Amino acid sequence: MYRIAVIPGDGIGPEIINEGKKVIEAVSEKENFEVEWIEYPFGADHYLETGELLNEDALKEIEKMDAIYLGALGDPRVEPGVLEKGILLALRFYFDQYVNLRPVKLLEGVECPLKNKKPEDIDFVVVRENTEDFYVGIGNHANVGKNKQELEIIRSLYSVKFGLDIEVDGCEITYQIGVISRKGAERVIRYAFELARKRGDSRVTAVDKANVLSHVYNFWRSIVEEVSKDYPDIEHEFNFVDAITMWFVKNPEWYQTIVTPNMFGDIITDLGAMIQGGLGLAPGGNINPDGVSMFEPIHGSAPKYAGKNVANPIATIWAGAMMLEEIGEEKAANDIVKAIELVLKEGKVRTKDLGGKATTSEMGDAIAKKVKELE
Ligand code: IPM
Ligand code: MN
Repeated sequence: MYRIAVIPGDGIGPEIINEGKKVIEAVSEKENFEVEWIEYPFGADHYLETGELLNEDALKEIEKMDAIYLGALGDPRVEPGVLEKGILLALRFYFDQYVNLRPVKLLEGVECPLKNKKPEDIDFVVVRENTEDFYVGIGNHANVGKNKQELEIIRSLYSVKFGLDIEVDGCEITYQIGVISRKGAERVIRYAFELARKRGDSRVTAVDKANVLSHVYNFWRSIVEEVSKDYPDIEHEFNFVDAITMWFVKNPEWYQTIVTPNMFGDIITDLGAMIQGGLGLAPGGNINPDGVSMFEPIHGSAPKYAGKNVANPIATIWAGAMMLEEIGEEKAANDIVKAIELVLKEGKVRTKDLGGKATTSEMGDAIAKKVKELE
């Protein structure tokens, strides 16, 4: 018996989460385990009604559960960032889910936007650091002219660093700082090497921008070098983030396991989603290997499609499979991925994003049925 916290969230969140639960229930009957869903209302409606984003009691309850299954967050009625930071990022940080795991795999039966690329060409995994970098939220927005001390700092910064003697009085500035800690980098890099070994990969690619943001990313590189010494069986290489976006398109077959700081990981995994056939197919896991992990599609709440029963639930269903794998139901997890693949390959049930007419619930039904038919 597993106890799973469910946060359907905003927009299409509730619809896609329903299908995810449906498929997990189907596989649980077959594999003889039970799931109890404990639903939480966090999201735009709850926030607008009560002013609350999350609450301490809920977090304490969830701490004792096996995992969190999340739909999507974001709503046009709420200023951008409030729900995303106040709920999604808050959960990632609270539960110290330091790995954001994002498989990029082109399934059979899915059209790839890259010419001549086949399922065997696009099959890698991105291990995104999930608690540091620019996501720590350290920064400021100031009118430096209002504060003499700040004014002096900015003036000397400009003159010492850039040799400029400019008038900065009244100048409005902002800054945001990326932070990488030894502990934070080490644990996620080690996770990536361990995962590579488990997957039977021969190479880990580490992403950075050490040619420009040298303080943080040279440190990141040095930790990759250090950790790699414990994995002589796995080679490693460094890719600059701008270059990797190019290689994703040109030679996706090169990649096996990728490890990346948070911000770059956010960006390259949206590109990853596209080359695996679209956001409707891309799942993610926010993992704390020693704590409570959270699983979600990597796409957003798509308010435009909310309540219309048209969204593709596959990313969420696949995220459900990742959740089962993490809690130890590996066979059930594999079955779900197999069922997704079979339904896509048959091509009879396709949602709008895949060029078909099937609804969200029809897609969920088809995968649930397929899962039951598997050996
Ligand atoms: C993601 C999302 C989030 C992120 C947002 C919604 C805070 O884009 O999961 O990739 O930036 O991590
Ligand atoms: Mn993102």
